[in-house]
Amino acid sequence: AEEVTLQKSLPFPIGAAVNISLLKNKTAYRELVTKEFNSLTPESAMKAGVIHPQENTYNWTDADYLVNFAKENNKRVHGHTLIWYKSLPSWITNYQGDAAAWETLFKSHIQTIVAHFKGKVVSWDVVNEAIADDGTMRSSIWLEKLGPDYIARAFQYAHEADPDALLFYNDYGHEYGPTKRGAILDLVNNLKNRNIPIHGIGLQMHTRYTMPDNNLASAINTATQTGLKVHIAELDIAMNPDNIQSLTFSPALAEQQSQKYKFIVKTFNAIPKSQQFGITTWNVSDADSWIPGNYDRPDWPLPFDSNYAKKPAYQGIIDGV
Ligand code: XIL
Repeated sequence: AEEVTLQKSLPFPIGAAVNISLLKNKTAYRELVTKEFNSLTPESAMKAGVIHPQENTYNWTDADYLVNFAKENNKRVHGHTLIWYKSLPSWITNYQGDAAAWETLFKSHIQTIVAHFKGKVVSWDVVNEAIADDGTMRSSIWLEKLGPDYIARAFQYAHEADPDALLFYNDYGHEYGPTKRGAILDLVNNLKNRNIPIHGIGLQMHTRYTMPDNNLASAINTATQTGLKVHIAELDIAMNPDNIQSLTFSPALAEQQSQKYKFIVKTFNAIPKSQQFGITTWNVSDADSWIPGNYDRPDWPLPFDSNYAKKPAYQGIIDGV
């Protein structure tokens, strides 16, 4: 019998955030990515700090590697991310210039990157995490130097550089509750109503196994009401949200994780087909997950274990459709 894979089993694109150095250097990782996924997001390679290290220097090496790998292997590339308050090179954080100079920097950063990948990257997270958890605009150098309408202008600039690219607003915490979710949806609806070129909404969904199903369903279903394409863009399910250093990943935990993945996939699969941009997991396996390093704890957030073997979560994803 033909082998089961995620990309063959799911009726929508299934992606992973990819670490380019593992893709280049670790055969088992490369083979797993090739076999299981049909959409790829660079974990870091397109962030400003990596791709635009100096004012007049762009470093395309890793991002181009990913795009070429995707082309050879017939995979979609989702660009992440043009404008974010993090991963900024010091030349941007220290930049001295008036409003006009900042606008030029901003526009040229966006348009140089989008133009470089025109026809190769089908979609972009244009702006990432611009709303704070209390629903106000997040402080960032972009807000400070450009004013709150920087978001709308980012989309316009990206659209000018590649009119065919699908443009997303991406953020986390839709599942936390109506405050943050409402602020994100207001922002997105305002852009839509002004005819700003926005085509999709990214729900990062860095979640945890204790997140109630209702919260996850509200996140997905209210995003769908915008009429935009919906991307569950950075899915992982933390199993140690209380940071217990001695925790081990028991079969009981693995089963709860599997049920949570299944619920998310099932809910996503029920939205209109035309709005299903896809689901992307943030990283591939528990070995390359950003969670343990970022939060300084053991964790097991992904459908593959640290030996790249399928976990119960893998079957949960497949059982969701
Ligand atoms: C994370 C990467 O996975 C880490 O390796 C890096 O140190 C920090 O950024 N939201 C996002 C992603 O939009 O870009 C972040 O990625 C995770 C949270």
